[in-house]
Amino acid sequence: MALNAMTMDVVSNFVLPLFDPNPVKQETPIMMDLSRSAAWSALVSHKHEVENLHMRDMFSSDLHRFERLSIQWKGLLLDYSKNRVTPKTMDLLMELARQAGLEERRDSMFRGDAINFTENRSVLHTALRRPPGESMRVDGLDVPAAVAAVLHQMKEFTGRVISGEWKGYTGKRITDVVNIGIGGSDLGPCMVAESLKPFAHDGIRVHFVSNIDGTHIAETLKSLNAESTLFVVASKTFTTQETLTNAMSAREWFLSRALKPEHIALHFVAVSTNREKVQEFGIDVANMFEFWDWVGGRYSLWSAIGLSIALYLGFDAFMELLSGAYAMDRHFTEEPLESNIPVILAMLGVWYNNFFDVHSHAVIPYDQYLHRFPAYLQQLDMESNGKRVNRLGKTVEYATGPVIWGEPGTNSQHAFFQLLHQGTGFIPADFMLPLKTQNPLGEHHDILAANCFAQTEALMKGKNEQEVREELTAAGLSSDTIAELLPHKVFPGNRPTNSLVFNELDPFMLGALVAMYEHKVFVQGVVWQINSFDQWGVELGKQLAKAILPELQGGEEIDSHDSSTNALIEAFRQVRA
Ligand code: F6P
Repeated sequence: MALNAMTMDVVSNFVLPLFDPNPVKQETPIMMDLSRSAAWSALVSHKHEVENLHMRDMFSSDLHRFERLSIQWKGLLLDYSKNRVTPKTMDLLMELARQAGLEERRDSMFRGDAINFTENRSVLHTALRRPPGESMRVDGLDVPAAVAAVLHQMKEFTGRVISGEWKGYTGKRITDVVNIGIGGSDLGPCMVAESLKPFAHDGIRVHFVSNIDGTHIAETLKSLNAESTLFVVASKTFTTQETLTNAMSAREWFLSRALKPEHIALHFVAVSTNREKVQEFGIDVANMFEFWDWVGGRYSLWSAIGLSIALYLGFDAFMELLSGAYAMDRHFTEEPLESNIPVILAMLGVWYNNFFDVHSHAVIPYDQYLHRFPAYLQQLDMESNGKRVNRLGKTVEYATGPVIWGEPGTNSQHAFFQLLHQGTGFIPADFMLPLKTQNPLGEHHDILAANCFAQTEALMKGKNEQEVREELTAAGLSSDTIAELLPHKVFPGNRPTNSLVFNELDPFMLGALVAMYEHKVFVQGVVWQINSFDQWGVELGKQLAKAILPELQGGEEIDSHDSSTNALIEAFRQVRA
């Protein structure tokens, strides 16, 4: 796991082709109605050829199907052979990606164009994991220099905290770090910390508080000692109600023990783009770790938002995470579309979403450490691609982002897999499995892997009537009982899955997997011609909550809302009173 200097040296010898030192701030949307394009129509016709094919038959008629439809990359195997596709499907999907301008838009993002045009922002989370070496300016800022300076600050700080040189107000070393943030300022760091627990160094525990429900912070604080706790207040805007309220409660809790306000400087640091608000809150800017508006919240774990990760795992492991992501960036930018992992995953998603009308996608990690991965992906994917207007502001005539959900295997097998196997429709799923476990314990890992492989096989093959009949007959059942049971025991199969199998869940591989999904989401957004980088849809609820809050606390009669909302407010007030 020690590593990174070497990896970074190696990768810095390569140059991504698309780095523009002076990126443009204006983007010209190149638009066409993709659903009327030749590539789209070809896929509509082709779907009729494929929909009646069963993957069972496709496997038996092509013994090299796995070789044709799988990719090995740096210890990661993507097996996408268990999909309802033929080689022609993949060609047509890649043609659709090309017609959507994928390669140009990918270059545009890496170059720093303001592709998040509704907020007039570049989208440069990839610059956070890029080894130093080239110049690039955004709004006058020397991006590589700024990134390097914050990484240096993080390295220094984490080194001091981990070594015990940084002391709390009574001279004790820090034993607990509490990250206070929400959305991208929580889900990414929390998922990474959970996923890489075996790589944590001894001595620092990490906690994540996100929910405005007072229970979250109250339960977290119960086990903590103010003398040895460090709060990381993580908020891009530093205006998020949940985070500021939680941070304020943490400060009160701390001051009720430490008593002197000057002790705050030893126990509160901030991660933000908003210097003024950090100061206003009362955190010294010397204790602030900066990032920039061209880092989207859900793409920010690579920035100083990853401070809690670096405190928990150590700075070298954090850098290793960045190098895994950078390696995937290079794969994404350099590999032809046909053998490009994020592109393949994205286009398979488009195939089901837009040509089979399947708007749900499951992610099933066969690794307990990845238990927060589906939650993290939900924000990444659904906040990015849950949009109904295209880049010209026109309502799209096709489905965009699917519902993303999932739980670790094998737990999910005993919960919702019934529907995956025998429900009315099909739901494509990604199965993730490390070949090596961090906890070799008897037969556990073998059983886990056997289940993972068995599920994708079962979903693909199913069990037809003839097989069920033979099984029941062999079990000695009467023909009446067989006739009654048979339809309940048939599995239609032909249900698509991707298997993502990797050597070990280490920082490098996790970085690569996360970047892979980021790019998958990007590709789909390009095909759907939407802006994947804004999130206006979260604003309305926030606005209304601001109006309702004083009404819950006040005494006047409430009649300004619909009758349902008025009644709900009244019910709350009666108990509150
Ligand atoms: O939920 C909306 C959102 O803006 C997310 O995009 C973001 O990750 C989250 O809120 C937190 O925002 P901030 O980091 O500014 O507190």
